[in-house]
Formats: sequence, structure tokens, C-alpha cells
Amino acid sequence: MVDLDQLVEHAKQDFAQAKDPAALEDIKAKYFGKSGILTEMLKGLGKLDPELRKTEGARINHAKSAIEHALQEQRQLFSEQLLQTRLSAESIDVSLPGRGVGSGSLHPVMRTWERVEEIFHSLGFDVAQGPEIENDWFNFTALNSPENHPARSMQDTFYVDGKDATGKQLLLRTHTSPMQIRYASHAVARHLKEYGDLTSLEDIRVIAPGRTYRVDSDATHSPMFHQVEGLWIGRDVSFAALKGIYTSFLRAFFEDDALQFRFRPSYFPFTEPSAEIDLAFPSGKLAGRWLEISGSGQVHPQVIRNMGLDPEEFIGFAFGSGLERLTMLRYGIDDLRLFFENDTRFLAQFSA
Ligand code: PHE
Repeated sequence: MVDLDQLVEHAKQDFAQAKDPAALEDIKAKYFGKSGILTEMLKGLGKLDPELRKTEGARINHAKSAIEHALQEQRQLFSEQLLQTRLSAESIDVSLPGRGVGSGSLHPVMRTWERVEEIFHSLGFDVAQGPEIENDWFNFTALNSPENHPARSMQDTFYVDGKDATGKQLLLRTHTSPMQIRYASHAVARHLKEYGDLTSLEDIRVIAPGRTYRVDSDATHSPMFHQVEGLWIGRDVSFAALKGIYTSFLRAFFEDDALQFRFRPSYFPFTEPSAEIDLAFPSGKLAGRWLEISGSGQVHPQVIRNMGLDPEEFIGFAFGSGLERLTMLRYGIDDLRLFFENDTRFLAQFSA
């Protein structure tokens, strides 16, 4: 008669020697397979007489479940080992700094936009915004731009499908100057409606920041860029006032009272006389150079007329400055394209 206790012991040792789950399943076949030891033993029961078959059967079944139990334990051991190796492989180093969720910040050009609004607000100017799709009247004709002015050509301006009431093609505004006409003529019309005449009309003082468009693209030009328009119309607004206002703005904007300025004669159809405003920094890497910052001038009498005002009575000045230009000079950025690439390594430097 087989020593079943010994058999169980052997099985336990066999299982314990299995080096991995696959080897364990192979060893299992030695006991439970088609011609495995236990299978054969159970088959052999048939040859025994009934009395013996009963006791022998019980003994074999007892051993069988002991071996099954040992097999199950070994399987359990393997799966625990597997879990342990996985856990240590996937362990998290809690001492590493977290990646965090970066907080967004304003684009540097938007910072300039806000800063310009704040400064001009403190100088008594309103802030207005107008449409980016303009018509010929506001963008050109009302601003005294002649029919053959290059800005009117397809090469320089983005025209848009659609026409205005007079049948002229709509366009993306090429500058913020249309806001001079829009804002002033609106103020005039509103005043006339309320008071019947213009005797009590107060000075019109406004800036209009916004997006502008030109067919142009290189290191210093972008097809979309930002300008801020400035306008002051009254009965006694001199060119000296333009100088005073604009230089105070620049000193505040660059936080530098030692800035130098130059008003250089220039030409715009909508101002007469016209001047290009240049500035020079007293120190720093841009020192010693005149840098162009703005177009400006005394508003042309025809433009005053197109605002609904009498040029014999009303006079004033206007200017238009590039917000990208102001931003580049303030932070020492030398390539305009950086503003439009949206590389967060660049943008994050302005998130103070
Ligand atoms: N609109 C002009 C430009 O885009 C700038 C300008 C504005 C000049 C107002 C004079 C007065 O170049």
C-alpha cells in the first residue's frame, strides 16, 4: 500500500521547487494529469473489493485535497510575489516636486494694452473699441486718404467678402484711425440730438486700442498687430498739448523721466502737420539710438469736417502707436514673431 503521507510530502516539495507559475502547472500534471499519480490511484480503486474500495477511496481523496491545497498555496505565493515586484517597480518617489497646474497669465501685449489704458485714463481720456471689419469710409475716405493711396491696394490690405451700403468692398481695418471718425462723429451727433447745437460740446478725448491688419509678415511685421489710437479735439488744443500728453505717457509707460523725445516731420493724409515721434533711452542696451514709436499730428481740417465739426472752431491732435512696438521696447524683445508663437517658455516670463 502506498504511503499517502509521504506522497503529500513529495508533492509539497515538488511544488516548492517550481521556479515560476508555468513550472508549477507542469508539476501539477505529475499528480493530476491524465496519467498522473493520483489519477492512476483513483482508477485502480475499481479493482478493489467494495469494502476496501471505500476506505482506500477516502484515504486517496484526503491526500488529493491535501495536495490540491498545497498547489493552491504555491499559486498564491507566486501571485503575491508578482504583486510585490510590480509594486516596487511602480513605486512613486514622494520626495519629487510635483508637476503642478501652471496658472495662466496675460500675454505681454495685453499687459501693455492694460497699462496704456490705465495711463491715458489717468490723463483724462476715455477708452473706446470699434469693429475690426471696416468700410471704406471710416478706414480711408473720411481720413482723407486719396483714391490712389497704396494702403487701399489689394497688396497691402485684407479685403473681406461683402460690401457696404455704397457698394464698396469691406476690409480688415489697416489702423485704429477709423475710431477717430467713429467716436468723434458719434459724440457730435449725440450732443446735437440732446442740445440742438454744439456750443456746450466738451473736448473729445479718447484712446482706442485694438487689433489691426496688413498684408505684411517678417521679423518686424505681422499680418495682425495691435495699435492704440489717441484723439483730443477741442477749441484750443495745440500741438504743444500733443507733445505734453504723449511725452508724459511715455515717461509713465517706461517708468523713466530721463527719456528723450524727438518730433520728426512726416506725412499722413489725415494730419497736418504730421510728426513721427521718436524716443531715446538714456541708458541700457538700447541707449543712444532714436527709436520710432508713434505716428501723430494735428488733425486735418477735412477730417474735422468729417467728424461733423467746423475746422474754424475745432482743432486737435491724434496719434497712433503700435502695442507690440511698445512691448518690445519695454522688455527688450527683438523679434516680433515671439508674440504670436505662443511658446509658454517665452510667455511665462511675463507672468509676474
Ligand atoms: N494711422 C497711422 C498708422 O497706422 C498712425 C497715425 C495715427 C498717424 C494718428 C497720425 C495720427 O501708421
